[in-house]
Amino acid sequence: MTTYSLLILPGDGIGPEVMAEVRKVIGWFETNRGLSFDVSEDLVGGAAYDKHGKPLADETMAKALEVDAVLLGAVGGPAYDNLDFSVKPERGLLRLRKEMDLFANLRPAQCFDALADFSSLKRDVVAGLDILIVRELTSGVYFGQPRGISADDTPGNEGGRVGVNTQRYTSGEIRRVARAAFELARKRNNRVCSMEKANVMESGILWREEVQWVHDNEYPDVELSHMYADNGAMQLVRNPRQFDVIVTDNLFGDILSDAAAMLTGSLGMLPSASLGAPMENGRPRAMYEPVHGSAPDITGQGKANPIACILSFAMALRYSYGLGDEADRLERAVEKVLADGVRTGDLMGPEGGTPVSTSQMGDAIVAALAAA
Ligand code: NAD
Ligand code: IPM
Ligand code: MN
Repeated sequence: MTTYSLLILPGDGIGPEVMAEVRKVIGWFETNRGLSFDVSEDLVGGAAYDKHGKPLADETMAKALEVDAVLLGAVGGPAYDNLDFSVKPERGLLRLRKEMDLFANLRPAQCFDALADFSSLKRDVVAGLDILIVRELTSGVYFGQPRGISADDTPGNEGGRVGVNTQRYTSGEIRRVARAAFELARKRNNRVCSMEKANVMESGILWREEVQWVHDNEYPDVELSHMYADNGAMQLVRNPRQFDVIVTDNLFGDILSDAAAMLTGSLGMLPSASLGAPMENGRPRAMYEPVHGSAPDITGQGKANPIACILSFAMALRYSYGLGDEADRLERAVEKVLADGVRTGDLMGPEGGTPVSTSQMGDAIVAALAAA
């Protein structure tokens, strides 16, 4: 029997709370579908800093490179806000992405019908929404050199210090994420919209030219359009259903995917998959994580919505284990629970109601799996 290896990194804040619900889901698949998971658990972010003095131990990094898939909860929180930049919780996450070379970050934004009235936009604008943002994840301004804050010891010299980050892309980095976007579009509605700011940035000009090159030479059958990212943000709010796949850089993708998340009703709904090059087993190196953060404002209160993390595990079933049918089953169970009106606090619409706890939401999804 195939055993699927999974490294769980719950992290900080609500990370461990939502991960506990994924554990229940994994247990259900083992008991009822005869699947076998080899699950290990380790620390990341502030939790790792507390134990090791850094946000990701080298042993954890090595383990992440060995397993079929990594599932991460969330990192960060107020307790760690004043740490030195190099050991902040977020650096642990960025190290995982960089050293695993997870260049394609898939962030789907789907509006479940049962939630269409909870979006901050009107039902007619978001009902049936199903878009996929493909965010470049290992380069751009997040990693470009030079970077840093220059020291200035001259007393009274206002304006002497300089903060620098560099937006830098190579053609190879653009081409590989563009290919990922075109491949995904072929399995969906065959349309890609590429977003940059070629009107003000040279890296944006290169982005546009290289995406066009990949299209013309390798994917002429896919419909390609280009849009400035600021207009893209406006169009996402004006008429999001015009999009199928959006491909964009690391920073624009970070911002646009948070905006897209709200179209679906809550940040607590949005999963993601970060994929790299194929490993020996033919599947991509991969890490899965909810798009939301550690939500310090609701930590420890049983209020967190575990759906984003559970749907991230569904993406692992699909992309890392080749279990597309089981992924569909899990997604159907989530849809059923929402249709039945089960809601965590973040999913409360204007009409109100009584929210369920994180744990009750997990239980409801597990119960729905049997019939899904
Ligand atoms: P956040 O996503 O943690 O929270 C934003 C808002 O959404 C909060 O009101 C929160 O309560 C709510 N929310 C988020 N997830 C929810 C869920 N599952 N259920 C219900 N409500 C939810 O973003 P933030 O407040 O900007 O950041 C807090 C910390 O998280 C920071 O340290 C930040 O760096 C970190 N962060 C980490 C990740 C990650 O680990 N991938 C992503 C974003 C932010
Ligand atoms: C995300 C987060 C991260 C990012 C932070 C926590 C490093 O906002 O995953 O969207 O900026 O990429
Ligand atoms: Mn973000």
